[in-house]
Amino acid sequence: MKGFFKIAGILALGYTLTACQGQLSEKPPVHPVLNMDQQPRKEAQEENNFFADGRSMRQPVEGTVARGFNTTSDLEYYKGETPEGEWIEEMPVEMTRSFLYRGKKQYEVFCSVCHGKTGAGDGIVITGNYGLVPAPAYHDIRLKNAPDGLLYSAIANGVRTMPSYATQIKVKDRWAIVAYIRALQESQSITEDELEQYDVDIAALNEEYAQEQALQDSLEAAKEPEEAPEATIALGKQVSAGNGCVACHSSDGSPGIGPSWGGVLGSTAEVVTQDGETITITKDEDYIRESIVSPNAKKDVEYENSVMAPFSHLPEHEIESLVLYIKSLSDN
Ligand code: HEC
Ligand code: HEC
Repeated sequence: MKGFFKIAGILALGYTLTACQGQLSEKPPVHPVLNMDQQPRKEAQEENNFFADGRSMRQPVEGTVARGFNTTSDLEYYKGETPEGEWIEEMPVEMTRSFLYRGKKQYEVFCSVCHGKTGAGDGIVITGNYGLVPAPAYHDIRLKNAPDGLLYSAIANGVRTMPSYATQIKVKDRWAIVAYIRALQESQSITEDELEQYDVDIAALNEEYAQEQALQDSLEAAKEPEEAPEATIALGKQVSAGNGCVACHSSDGSPGIGPSWGGVLGSTAEVVTQDGETITITKDEDYIRESIVSPNAKKDVEYENSVMAPFSHLPEHEIESLVLYIKSLSDN
């Protein structure tokens, strides 16, 4: 037994001595498993006498064509812009049925959660009321008339509060989505007469729609009625912060994407109605409420190209609280 301990002790000592890392030594360390720790290579920016210019980092061979990263030679395709920096009106991609269906697929993966399956702005992220700025419907005149390049840019660069999808969606697929948005826009303004020219069973569609509506109604009716919380100024402030209103509206009169809320109540302005009529109004409580739930009803001429989407999905006590809060900013 004694002998065993002696041998074990010697072995342990030997092991400890050979395993002393961090000690200064002239000799190269014992390094049995190399793990590619040492290999001949040049670090970035390191000098290299092999080449006449002394650089180890080499230029690409003349005439090299970048694959997948060349975003400057074809502005129309990669940026949706003309060389003068204008949006291009029409996409630089050939339209085929399969291309459009590719767009549908990608749209439903990436965009429908917010913009809705038909592009009405009623995706689950918005109607679920998680406090995000609502995605606009594509069926507004502004977006119907928007050039293809602008729609493309919304995907490639994001727009105001919408993030960019450049890392998830390839260039060609972005154009496919733009094509599908155009199809959605067409689909939502088609008349029944026009529809009859196509091979669709309108009666069956109407029947399906009625059934879905009935199901929704019965689900709604089965819900326990909840006691609505009270509307307050403090809640209004909270709701406006939580829904991204403050990204576009200041409360102290300073300018932003939308008009400041400071001093709105009782101010007068020229507005354009939906019929295109320009009238002068005094901004009152009803106007403030209407501006929140239906911002397209009357547009302040200064902001005629309004980018505000309706917040009609908010519960009533939250809308009332917003009105109270915005009114309160005019009191002092
Ligand atoms: C997380 C929610 C969300 C998703 C997902 C989303 N969007 Fe948006 N989108 C928004 C919001 C919010 C705005 C309004 C931004 C603003 O005005 O601040 C917007 C605005 C837009 C606009 C209008 C641009 C303009 O100039 O007014 C277009 C076009 C658009 N989105 C396209 C898309 C497409 C295409 C996709 C899918 C690739 C997509 N969006 C995915 C939330 C979303
Ligand atoms: C993406 C920017 C944006 C967001 C987000 C936004 N708005 Fe607006 N809002 C505007 C613009 C632009 C106008 C002016 C255009 C118009 O009159 O239709 C406007 C107009 C208004 C007006 C009328 C003000 C006036 O002086 O005419 C009210 C009230 C208003 N918004 C409330 C809200 C509330 C409440 C929220 C959040 C729940 C909100 N807005 C979110 C851009 C935005």
